[in-house]
Amino acid sequence: MKLLVTGGAGFIGANFVHQTVAERPDVEITVLDKLTYAGNLESLAPVIDAITFVHGDVADTVLVDRLVADSDLVVHFAAESHNDNSLADPSPFVQTNLVGTFALLEAVRKHDVRYHHISTDEVYGDLALDDPAKFTETTAYNPSSPYSSTKAGSDLLVRAWVRSFGVRATLSNCSNNYGPYQHVEKFIPRQITNVLTGVRPKLYGTGTNVRDWIHVDDHNRAVWTIIDKGEIGETYLIGADGETDNRTVIETVLELSGQDRAAFDFVTDRPGHDLRYAIDATRLKTELGWEPVYKDFGSGLHATIEWYRANEAWWRPHKNATEAAYRRTERPLE
Ligand code: NAD
Ligand code: DAU
Repeated sequence: MKLLVTGGAGFIGANFVHQTVAERPDVEITVLDKLTYAGNLESLAPVIDAITFVHGDVADTVLVDRLVADSDLVVHFAAESHNDNSLADPSPFVQTNLVGTFALLEAVRKHDVRYHHISTDEVYGDLALDDPAKFTETTAYNPSSPYSSTKAGSDLLVRAWVRSFGVRATLSNCSNNYGPYQHVEKFIPRQITNVLTGVRPKLYGTGTNVRDWIHVDDHNRAVWTIIDKGEIGETYLIGADGETDNRTVIETVLELSGQDRAAFDFVTDRPGHDLRYAIDATRLKTELGWEPVYKDFGSGLHATIEWYRANEAWWRPHKNATEAAYRRTERPLE
């Protein structure tokens, strides 16, 4: 089977390629990636001889048409993915997340190629801290940020291409991922690498915001489960019951790193900061038989800290520029 993975040099896409090379030797993989600031060929170094890498843009219709024509399956990870960046400049989010997805959909429509769309729980907006509800496949879309609204728009394009043109697509909306190869701009790797470089971790606002953490390998196993067994046109939510507030995450990172749990700084909050995400993955579990392997967030976090400790050469070149960008807007809270 010929598989085209977009965004395969990013965090989740690279882990997906690693997993697929290890577990599915019959799959011939081509990665299409623009290598933005978030893409890193080093993340594919362990598998680079087993795949074909194409440096290019998902919005390049000529390139995309050629690559899709030669594929049996497209898994679309490529996106601008960071909420803070989308608040500073939404423009690349509209271009890549909306126009890029449109280009892929037109190509899979033309060549009748199976398509899986990777999306986020953020399309549903946020939940109150004391709300017993979680997001399900029928929750109404209500995105808050430029990032999540462009992801929501891309999901809706996919749904429309299924219904109007009979495109053979499935969708998945996953909660917050953690694990190896995640860019140091994101919450968990930022705090781990802060501790490793002697900088105090930074907590936005009060830190009561809750995210539903899932290990990236569990996300990617779920994606393959949906490709193998999911129903065309359907959406599946992916989550591993990992709800944890941000303050607890920072305190745990500090504790697992042998530091004082209180050795962090409160900084200015993210504008429009979503309060809580929570996934009900019942459909994926009962209909398709998926279960997460990493059921204990603490041990998954410990393994992730050890990965960053052992792989400083991977993240060190990006740390200073990332922190300099944060320093331009972030202020300490009294
Ligand atoms: P990432 O930012 O780490 O990686 C994105 C990758 O896409 C990079 O390699 C980048 O170079 C590439 N890319 C960006 N624009 C491109 C373009 N125009 N053409 C080709 N390649 C381009 O992102 P991630 O965290 O790995 O997220 C991957 C996907 O998963 C995204 O669609 C995101 O919305 C979704 N998602 C992420 C999470 C999470 O917690 N990180 C959770 C749920 C869903
Ligand atoms: O829910 C899925 C989404 O999870 C994905 O769609 C996004 O691509 C991914 O980036 C992530 O979005 P978040 O905005 O939740 O992730 P982020 O790592 O930026 O922040 C996680 C939480 O931590 C959030 O409440 C903001 C807070 N935070 C973040 C940073 C970078 C801090 O308190 N301090 C920080 O330094």
